Amino acid sequence: MKYLTMDDFDLRGKTVFVRVDVNSPIDPVSGTILDYSRFEAHRQTLTELNDSKVIILAHQSRPGKRDYVSLKPHARVFSRIVDKKVDFVEDLFGEYARIRIENMENGDYLLLENTRFYSEEYCLKRGNPEETNIVKKLAPLGDFFINDAFAAAHRGQATLVGFAKEMPMLVGRLMEREIKMLTRFLDMKDRPKVAIFGGAKAEDSINVMRSFLERDIVDKILTGGVVSYFFLLASGFDLGDKSIAYLEKEFDDYSYYVNQARMLLDNYGDKIEIPTDVVVNANGHRKALPVKELPVSDPIYDIGLDTVVKYIEILRDSKGIILNGPMGVFEIPEFEVGTREVYRGVFKSSAFKVAGGGHTIAAIEKYGFSGGFDHISTGGGALITFLSGGKMPVLEALEESYNLFS
Ligand code: 3PG
Repeated sequence: MKYLTMDDFDLRGKTVFVRVDVNSPIDPVSGTILDYSRFEAHRQTLTELNDSKVIILAHQSRPGKRDYVSLKPHARVFSRIVDKKVDFVEDLFGEYARIRIENMENGDYLLLENTRFYSEEYCLKRGNPEETNIVKKLAPLGDFFINDAFAAAHRGQATLVGFAKEMPMLVGRLMEREIKMLTRFLDMKDRPKVAIFGGAKAEDSINVMRSFLERDIVDKILTGGVVSYFFLLASGFDLGDKSIAYLEKEFDDYSYYVNQARMLLDNYGDKIEIPTDVVVNANGHRKALPVKELPVSDPIYDIGLDTVVKYIEILRDSKGIILNGPMGVFEIPEFEVGTREVYRGVFKSSAFKVAGGGHTIAAIEKYGFSGGFDHISTGGGALITFLSGGKMPVLEALEESYNLFS
């Protein structure tokens, strides 16, 4: 893929729009931003621009959600990141915002209001993004557009793609690193490569697994968490009433994914590892049992130690590892062993290592393993889409801008 970078132009003294993704968890009572990691991830891009006039564009959540709020508190976090005051204007493309932009000086940072407060951003069923008023009113004020919003790169919204034909759209430092490191994992020839899928987002995981196996991207897949429930069911194990009740509650049609898992096992059974033992929550206590003793009346909360040992052995020989999702309910200390020890196995491996996903990052940080990874992706849905070879409108826009302005 070809794109323009921040090294291709002298950005000093220029007016630069920067699209970031700092969509973050917000405390519903106090309105406090609970996690700054997505802000941190944009630090390099933003601080390198300290001789430009920098206008930051971002969204927070979606209409109808409790954390769909103004970006005013986000400006304070940005100020900590760039170590100078980041002004906020409660407007996106109206006269108020445009006058503030026109009066900016070099070294100024200005954050505009939540882009999703404006319907053109979000409801682009017809028409082209570059024809929105957001783009038509803002584009004449800027010299460059830096796109650093990897976590939203699977969206085709106006502030994400609409400026690509109006001015050079460059990859930000974070976007560049995300593309480079994830592509490196996908393309690396050193084998074996291992993917670990756990957590509760089984639909996404099964889709990525299928894509990885069809494209021969990995040699082994290790399953844990709710993802492994589907493969255990597809292998003929009955999990027991409580675990089944969980699946019925959380998935519209869980049997669809059991069938998907069965198809993957039929075609790629030698590449997919499923737990040989599990741990259930017996009134708050760990109780381990081999899967051949299933069903069990208590709910499954972790993988067992035999499975941990088997997974660690596989990780030891691997040259590339991608980690997505915990092995169990690691938030409860009693059931964290599987996640902690498999993650330790990843941490200790000398393989090229990438990870992504909110719970994955939380677990990596909890156990102090962050330093052991070559890359920790900021993407949720975007990471899944990128890994499975899906459509990434922002990457298409970057390529289009390269073709027009290189
Ligand atoms: C994310 O948090 O994954 C991104 O900000 C995209 O959010 P969306 O799924 O609401 O578009």
